[in-house]
Amino acid sequence: PAPGELRIRLDHVLVVDGRGFISHVRPASDPTIQSLLIAAASAAAGASSNNATAIVTDLPAHTFLLPTFADLHIHAPQYLYAGTGLDQPLMSWLDKYAYAAEERVDADPALAHRVYTQLAKRLIQAGTGCAVAFGTIGVEANLILAQAFQDAGIRGFIGKLSMDNSPRPTYGEASTADSLTSLTSFLNGMDELALPLAAHEQLVHPIITPRFVPVCSDDLLRGIADISRARGVKVQSHMCESRDQMAWVEGTRGKKDEVVFDEAGLLTEHTVQAHVTSFPPSLVELVKKRGVTVAHCPLSNAYFSDAAFPLREAIDAGVKVGLGSDIAGGYALPLQTQMRQAVVVARLREGARREAAFADGTSTAGDEGKGLRVDWVEALYLATRGGKGALGFGGVLEEGMEFDAQQISLAADGAGVGQLDLFDLPAAPDHEWWTESVERWWCNGDDRNRAAVWVQGRKVM
Ligand code: GUN
Ligand code: FE
Repeated sequence: PAPGELRIRLDHVLVVDGRGFISHVRPASDPTIQSLLIAAASAAAGASSNNATAIVTDLPAHTFLLPTFADLHIHAPQYLYAGTGLDQPLMSWLDKYAYAAEERVDADPALAHRVYTQLAKRLIQAGTGCAVAFGTIGVEANLILAQAFQDAGIRGFIGKLSMDNSPRPTYGEASTADSLTSLTSFLNGMDELALPLAAHEQLVHPIITPRFVPVCSDDLLRGIADISRARGVKVQSHMCESRDQMAWVEGTRGKKDEVVFDEAGLLTEHTVQAHVTSFPPSLVELVKKRGVTVAHCPLSNAYFSDAAFPLREAIDAGVKVGLGSDIAGGYALPLQTQMRQAVVVARLREGARREAAFADGTSTAGDEGKGLRVDWVEALYLATRGGKGALGFGGVLEEGMEFDAQQISLAADGAGVGQLDLFDLPAAPDHEWWTESVERWWCNGDDRNRAAVWVQGRKVM
């Protein structure tokens, strides 16, 4: 529920209402449970013409529920080539691979449908119940993406890319006005998609997506800020990702990334910025003050950023942070990979600082303190509530919150899905066993441990 806090509830009953929200979380020993279930059943019966009863599901032994993961930064069309060309620097990789793949997806709706349907399925299998996606420039392909997410039952913030200043002649928008017109028609298309659905059924929402400063004019960024305010739509982009990208912006604009965004009015509490790997204390202050969310993408950063995001400092400063796969800058779709990578990077930063202290003689004993490390419990927070909370959801299994959950099995002999080789499973596991076993899952679990996934109360796997 908070960075560094692992809450394990043993033997509880969780009640989900007909709209997919958690109405009760109570110890199984609570004497009111029976009457709660009867009330839930009659509420369900009253809400429909059927004679509904409450559905009671017992979890098998050595199984737990965990909130779903939120991927705060993924390029949906780049799933097409994830794991390719990672030896290139960012700006040439974008042209050779990213823009080329996006161009193909925009030109071929059938391909868009195939890639996006498969992506939605794989995200759910990986426990991701919510993804904040960059799409392509075209309107049609992004509506296909939105429909694919809605149909699969995964939450999505869908971003039609805005780029009126593309370096690629065959992939860009002809003018600022064209770009804004196209954005408006995408937003209208998203409104139409939501129209027949009740609020709790609307899993997909638009997010306005100026790709990054190098491909957007100042006029476009200001126009986008106006539309975001007028329509109440979130914004996402990339900020301070890599040296070559930042040098390009400074060389052409004479300003830093964050100044360009801030002057356009795009650093707000409704903005998610990917990376921000160059994050000096002054920028931490600004991001905190503006309420911007950072999508930390540790695997992608290792390839494209030349620097390690100062995650420890960001968490301690109270900056809103979640994790992103950055497919295909990061090659791995599972947020489990990103959690582990975030911890590894933080450990390496701590080691490097200790090493530097030895080298310059300021330390002889070594720093045994917490230093710059981030632990698995904090990483689990970032992957769940950190990301979800920043988007305006609950992100924990608490009364009143959305029931977005994954069921994890640790039992090798259970449903045939356990892969952890936990031996001597206790008949009545206690709190300590669970803490250790959840850590073991965190380290070595994979999709084979995931027995079910729900989004807004609906079982989607
Ligand atoms: N900056 C602008 N576009 C992209 C992209 O597609 N991927 C990454 N990693 N960085 C970007
Ligand atoms: Fe990205």
